Amino acid sequence: MVNHQNGACRLVILISGRGSNMQTIVDTIARENLPAQVCAVVSNRADAAGLEWAADRGIETRTVPHRDYASRQDFDAALAAVIDEYQPNYVLLAGFMRVLTPGFVERYEGRLINIHPSLLPSFPGLHTHQQALVDGVQWHGCTIHFVTAKLDHGPIVAQGIVPVLETDDPDALAARLLTVEHRMYAQVVRWLAEGRVSLDDDQRVRVAGVATRAFLPDGALLGQHSKEQA
Ligand code: GRF
Repeated sequence: MVNHQNGACRLVILISGRGSNMQTIVDTIARENLPAQVCAVVSNRADAAGLEWAADRGIETRTVPHRDYASRQDFDAALAAVIDEYQPNYVLLAGFMRVLTPGFVERYEGRLINIHPSLLPSFPGLHTHQQALVDGVQWHGCTIHFVTAKLDHGPIVAQGIVPVLETDDPDALAARLLTVEHRMYAQVVRWLAEGRVSLDDDQRVRVAGVATRAFLPDGALLGQHSKEQA
C-alpha cells in the first residue's frame, strides 16, 4: 500500500492520444474533491489531444518524444526523469502506447497502473476489439492492472465487461467499452486516493473493504447498482 497520508495522492498520467480516460480521472477528482492530485500529464507525442485539454485546466503537461531517443532504454530514462520531478505515488497509464522496458517497470514497481481494453489474459497487445470479434467471444471487457515486465500482464485491480453484439464492428465495440473504462478508472482512482489498494505476498491485489472489483456493462460495480456514482 502506498502511504500518502501526509497529503493528497500524487498522480502522474501518461497518455499518447485523446486522453478520455485521463479526462475522466481529472474530472472525478475535481467533482468529488478526492484527496488526489494530477501533478502532470505526460505524453510521448506532442500532438496528443489530451495534452491541450489538460493544459487548459491548469495541469502541467510534458512531452517526451520517443523519436528523439536512440533506444527504448534512453527514452524510458528520459521519461522517468520527467516523472520523478513530480514524485508521484502512482503513475497511471491511460492510452499510453509505448512498451516500457523492464528497468522502467521495476523502478515504479507497485506504483505503475495500466488500463487495457480486453479481459486479460485474453487479447494482450493491439487491436483488441478486432481480436474479440474474430474469436467470436460474447463478452468483451477491460482490465486495470499493475504493470509488470511482461506486456499487458500483471496483478489485476479491476475488470469490466460488455456484451458483443452481432452488429458490432471494432469501433462500435470500442465505444461501448469506453464508457465502462471511464467508470472503472474513476473508481480505481477513488480507491487509490483513499489508500485502500495493496498487493499481497502472492502479488494479488487487495482493496480494503471491497468484496468485488467486477464492473458491469453500465459501468456500475457489481453489487452497487448506482448509475450516478461515476
Ligand atoms: C483506451 O481504450 C485504453 O484502454 C487503451 O487506449 C484507449 C485510450 O483511450 N489503452 P483514451 O486516450 O483514454 O481516450
